Amino acid sequence: MSSLPRIAVLASGRGSNLAALLAARERGELPVDFVLVGSDKAAAGALRMAEAANIPTLALDPRSYPDRRAFDLDLFARIAASGAELLVLAGFMRILDGEALAPWIGRMINIHPSLLPKYRGLHTHRRALEAGDTEHGASVHFVTAELDGGPVIAQARVAIEPGDDEEQLAERLLPLEHRLLPAVLGLLATRRLRWDGQAPRLDDQPLLTPLVLNEQGLQTRE
Ligand code: GRF
Repeated sequence: MSSLPRIAVLASGRGSNLAALLAARERGELPVDFVLVGSDKAAAGALRMAEAANIPTLALDPRSYPDRRAFDLDLFARIAASGAELLVLAGFMRILDGEALAPWIGRMINIHPSLLPKYRGLHTHRRALEAGDTEHGASVHFVTAELDGGPVIAQARVAIEPGDDEEQLAERLLPLEHRLLPAVLGLLATRRLRWDGQAPRLDDQPLLTPLVLNEQGLQTRE
């Protein structure tokens, strides 16, 4: 087994955020070992991407389990069996059972396409446009039992331009997501970032406001 931090990724869809993680590793910017990519959708693009990169994959069908908790317990048991130390939700479109995820508190992050605490859940681009917001963004947060409700670690922001529609906004935000997620995972994997259930800590200082992604990378807010 490699001595690099061992990472599992869960994704339900095309997997562009997974691709960004793999690319960051290839560039030498993310020294981690991806030990498993899992999905609740056998057809997910993310699984094909992982296969192409020789990363073990796992596809579990929620319909073959009696309930959410049974699915999540099996999923997390298999992730633990992969040797993963950290878990990244990169477009994993399921609500997780609180008891099942408890062992992963502080070791699991999610990327969500809004400036949390705004717009938890679905259709975030549409909701930001409908609200008349002038800016939008993406957040990476520690996962808790509360949907999109765990402490926010870092955010990337985009201006909403007059005439923007959902697709245009999503398209402008996505490249920022692709920088944000590897940068946060890097902090967690190198143990610069921790969370024990109190305030998240960066370099042993409490992280009182989310980090901000700019041209230089992640910065603390002035
Ligand atoms: C991203 O917008 C992410 O923020 C959200 O789901 C989408 C996943 O896209 N959680 P992809 O599968 O990584 O391309």
